[in-house]
Amino acid sequence: MPEQTNICYTYEVCKQIADFLMQRTEFRPKIGIICGSGLGSLADQLTETDIIDYKDIPHFPVSTVEGHVGRLVFGYLGDTSVVAMQGRFHYYEGYDLAKCSMPVRVMKLIGCTNLIATNAAGGLNDKFKVGDIMIMRDHINIMGLSGIGPLIGPNDARFGPRFPPMANAYDSQYIKAAKEIAKNMNIEDDVKEGVYTCVGGPNYETVAEMRMLKMIGLDAVGMSTVHEAITARHCDMKVFAFSLITNICSLEYDDNEGENANHEEVITVAKDRQSVCAKFVTNMVKAISESIK
Ligand code: HPA
Repeated sequence: MPEQTNICYTYEVCKQIADFLMQRTEFRPKIGIICGSGLGSLADQLTETDIIDYKDIPHFPVSTVEGHVGRLVFGYLGDTSVVAMQGRFHYYEGYDLAKCSMPVRVMKLIGCTNLIATNAAGGLNDKFKVGDIMIMRDHINIMGLSGIGPLIGPNDARFGPRFPPMANAYDSQYIKAAKEIAKNMNIEDDVKEGVYTCVGGPNYETVAEMRMLKMIGLDAVGMSTVHEAITARHCDMKVFAFSLITNICSLEYDDNEGENANHEEVITVAKDRQSVCAKFVTNMVKAISESIK
């Protein structure tokens, strides 16, 4: 069990964390990046970095998952300053969703207006193959529909409104830019668009669950991102997110063709695809930074 603090991530606590970080670095990025499972090497592409371990940041939890390092990296990706979370926090680690998403609010308080979130996910759509990048067009917040969400509890209007809309959670212009980038990189056959959901985990899904997820219109399933995107939209950050499809969910019992998801496979595929994902993110950062100049 990870060490649990009973700290409540109020505006003041998030501000304290943001102030601490701003004293530790002169970077004032407008773009925050969250690196998914096995995609932490994205952050290794940054130059002139200031690196701060989560364990050295006041009130920060630590990431307990293999494949997630656990540090904030400030630096340049291309010519743009960014901050990247190398390792994120998951519900299945024992952290509530407000805690999992707290770093997004900290990013906002250091000046980020944009969030790029990446994740590893299982593919439900028949047209997907292992190694594809799925641009997130939308999500179905299964945990939220059952009353578990990052915004549950008192609302602090300094972050955002009590009832934030989610109809345009993922920025349409950024999705358009991402498709253009895929074309220019000659990877358009490997770049799809779809609807993601976050399940509580840490177990992978049963066949019946995967069939249900597909039936309700989902293209990919993972264990992150949705609550981070909601938290970002609540505080008016623009969001771009994508899933790396690390396994195809098998919808038949005893299906020898379909592979059962396992963490090693997820990490292996992510490692194989990390350089393409890193280039894709670098190009996205460039496009976003040009659009917000
Ligand atoms: N299910 C849930 N989370 C995942 C999967 C999956 O198949 N693959 C990677 N993360």
